[in-house]
Amino acid sequence: MPSTLTLRRPDDWHVHLRDGAMLKACAVHTARQFARAIIMPNLVPPVTKVAEAVAYRDRIRAAVPADLKFEPLMTCYLTDGADPAELLRGKNEGVWVAAKLYPAHATTNSAHGVTSMDRVAKGLEAMEKAGMPLLVHGEVTDPEVDIFDREAVFLDKTLAPLLKRHPGLKIVLEHITTREGVAFVEANPGRMGGTITPHHLSYNRNAIFKGGIRPHFYCLPIAKREEHRLALRRAATSGGAQFFLGTDTAPHTADTKECACGCAGVFNAPVAMQVYAQVFAEENALDRLEAFASLNGPRFYGLPANEERVMLRAAALDAPESVDVPGLAAGLAKTITVFRPDTPVGWSF
Ligand code: DOR
Ligand code: ZN
Repeated sequence: MPSTLTLRRPDDWHVHLRDGAMLKACAVHTARQFARAIIMPNLVPPVTKVAEAVAYRDRIRAAVPADLKFEPLMTCYLTDGADPAELLRGKNEGVWVAAKLYPAHATTNSAHGVTSMDRVAKGLEAMEKAGMPLLVHGEVTDPEVDIFDREAVFLDKTLAPLLKRHPGLKIVLEHITTREGVAFVEANPGRMGGTITPHHLSYNRNAIFKGGIRPHFYCLPIAKREEHRLALRRAATSGGAQFFLGTDTAPHTADTKECACGCAGVFNAPVAMQVYAQVFAEENALDRLEAFASLNGPRFYGLPANEERVMLRAAALDAPESVDVPGLAAGLAKTITVFRPDTPVGWSF
């Protein structure tokens, strides 16, 4: 095992930075590790207009300390009847890098999401022509479908028809959690990519219930059985060009997770590269970490890889257990719990 690992500075292709006090507390943790990040638009209200994205991008830049170089890549939140002209304008003006499809009510702040693919067909046609990728939260919302089956059913019921209907559309299946998701991406080379989170690589669904219910392991899509985690580990560490890094870091203050109806989301930004390195080391694939973290994503998006290098050290994880959020709730400091796998992490960033 090497004692250090040098790679091109990575990018994070799926991040929730929130806004206001949360943004101020969280942005630095992503910017310390990553050069660029795809910013999720599920604010309240969602980011649907070019002007809103430009203003949000300014707030993100202002929240990142001046000594860190960080580029937020903005996405458009698709709603029913999404305006093709607004999508094209934002793409042409260099604001939108992609658009995000949340099936309505699938997850946090998705109430304004899409209720039927017919209602975004015009927008998707415009994106297809413009070469603008679609980022998909791949879960059906039918309450009749078991929560652990929602990704697999989405692939059959929604994504397969969508690929046929829009043959030129590039699609990222975000935060893959199943072996079916891995196989679906692999079956569509050239037009599909898939992001994989550090937490879905680190634990299976048992962890959520080990010794009691553990809200900080709850996110959506929910972690699945061990066989699925192993499929994700194979995909991520394969070096295959279709799979790339997306942390889905999703901060919620501890009080909104540790309650009767806790929010979905794992805040992993301070430990992301350390946990990925641990997974790749366990799989004897450290030589492929750079492809997953720093090369495959830019290639999919048609962007240059970063030139700067970063170094990971083989040393016990050195990261805070929580991050304070000053300024929330009338001046009360609240905290966000930082993700930590149950198994040791022997890498430091
Ligand atoms: O666990 C999740 N949290 N999954 C999502 O899709 C959204 C995210 C959030 O915004 O908190
Ligand atoms: Zn997300």
